[in-house]
Amino acid sequence: MNIQELTELLKNRASHRKYLQTPVTEEQIRALVDCARLAPSGHNHQPWRFLALSNKTLLNDMAAIVVKSLKSLFPSLPETEIQMLEKYKFFMEHFKDAPLVIVVLGKKDSYTTTELLCKYNLTLPKPELYDMELLGIGAAIQNLLLAAQAQGLGTCWLSEPVVYAQKELEVLLNVAAPYHIVSLISVGVPAKEKKGAPRLSVDELLEIRTTSK
Ligand SMILES: Cc1cc2nc3c(=O)[nH]c(=O)nc-3n(C[C@H](O)[C@H](O)[C@H](O)COP(=O)(O)O)c2cc1C
Repeated sequence: MNIQELTELLKNRASHRKYLQTPVTEEQIRALVDCARLAPSGHNHQPWRFLALSNKTLLNDMAAIVVKSLKSLFPSLPETEIQMLEKYKFFMEHFKDAPLVIVVLGKKDSYTTTELLCKYNLTLPKPELYDMELLGIGAAIQNLLLAAQAQGLGTCWLSEPVVYAQKELEVLLNVAAPYHIVSLISVGVPAKEKKGAPRLSVDELLEIRTTSK
């Protein structure tokens, strides 16, 4: 694959939230995870696991748990905020109508620099926006999204259900420590073609420094 082909693949990826009911085959699922597992991870920890779910009752139960948690906020909120969250609800529960949902599990670093520092009573400033295992899991998820696209499948990466109902979903799915649910990925044949959302241009994002200052 050359750079044009890779760029084309990336440009054609979009988040799909409506799918045909065509089942995703076991072979396709295995190919998704085969690509996900090839992602880099800190210390090669490979802190990810994948749970592939297609049972409609189970997916509906998961979505109901998420919506229940969302609605538990309503009594404490003004009407305008409730209306906003009602609209937002779709983005947390649409996975229930996908033919396949991959639950991405991750575990925390078992031997971090932080633990080493504690052991020897040393300190370093805590970095902002840093979680080594999550960074690797993000890379694995992106591999999975592209592997789906290369097989003619659409995806949507969802993290909101985890924000609202991580614990409840873990109980329902028997996810045991040290693993936790990081994200859900809906997968299926897209109901219609879709373009990805607009992006900032390279010029808006990139600063190339060639001098020492
Ligand atoms: C970490 C992460 C979390 C996301 N969570 C959700 C979500 O909970 N629900 C949803 O519908 N989309 C979710 N998305 C999809 C984004 O909304 C989408 O990627 C973004 O709007 C850009 O659109 P595009 O993927 O079609 O280019 C998430 C994406 C990422 C990377």
